[in-house]
Amino acid sequence: MGTYVWDGEQLIQREHAVVDIEDRGYTFGDGIYEVFRIYDGQIFAESLHWERYFRSALAIRLQLPWTAEQLSHGVHNLIRANTLKEGIVYLQTTRGVSPRNHSFPSEQVRPALIAFTKTLLRPIEQMDRGERIITHPDERWLRCDIKSLNLLPNVIAKQAASEVAAFEAVLHRDEIITEGSSSNIAIVKNGCIMTHPANHLILHGITRALVIQLANQQRIQLKEEAFTVNDLVQADEAFLMSTTSEIMPIIQVNEQIIGCGIPGPLTRTLQSAWALLLPL
Ligand code: PDD
Repeated sequence: MGTYVWDGEQLIQREHAVVDIEDRGYTFGDGIYEVFRIYDGQIFAESLHWERYFRSALAIRLQLPWTAEQLSHGVHNLIRANTLKEGIVYLQTTRGVSPRNHSFPSEQVRPALIAFTKTLLRPIEQMDRGERIITHPDERWLRCDIKSLNLLPNVIAKQAASEVAAFEAVLHRDEIITEGSSSNIAIVKNGCIMTHPANHLILHGITRALVIQLANQQRIQLKEEAFTVNDLVQADEAFLMSTTSEIMPIIQVNEQIIGCGIPGPLTRTLQSAWALLLPL
């Protein structure tokens, strides 16, 4: 983690940053977050992340005391203070500090914000080789479009993947694949990409939205339609999409090899188009 964190007002040293035991993020998971990707010291797709952050706040009726300009300014200062070149900014906002009581605190209670940076390099080798994933039941609530702090089912799914040295756990509601524990997923069948529609069952990933644009530009057919676990294991190609993993080819699902067991041609095309978006 970088030396400084930002608390919505000022930069403070990491070791001086504290969480009150009555912070509603701590007691209820009552808050939202964003993860921004930094390439060459610049925030990638910044406005899309702020749009989603404000959408998440509205969805949980969290009244933010900051404007988008103030937030952006704070995060840019943080990146500069920590001289971050390649990595992420994690920013979370809770409904503030108040005696524990489920209903919202009074409007005088100010939301609590914390943002920190972490150096993280692009996963070049993994994107080149492809990764193995597992399937796992989707045990989450019905507002997965909100980037909420409540990540317990995601944590449990990712742990199941870690225990078998898999890269990701891809979630399914009955037979329908929704998304990964911290990524979106797409498959390719007969030249057509399929990815779950952006409804309440998935997080509306920024990477996913940009991949859809790239596919259109490349004249690759793409359908925002749900697909099944069986469709996934029989796909010609499959890939994950996220801020940290970019476009990550999937070469194995549970015991089943996908396609030829190497990243497929359409996945490669999208990865090349993606690289052109980056300020590198
Ligand atoms: N995860 N779905 C889920 C459940 C996620 O948590 C994420 C991102 C995504 C991909 O969204 P995006 O392309 O906007 O990063 C999809 C972040 C990186 C995280 O929790 O660390």
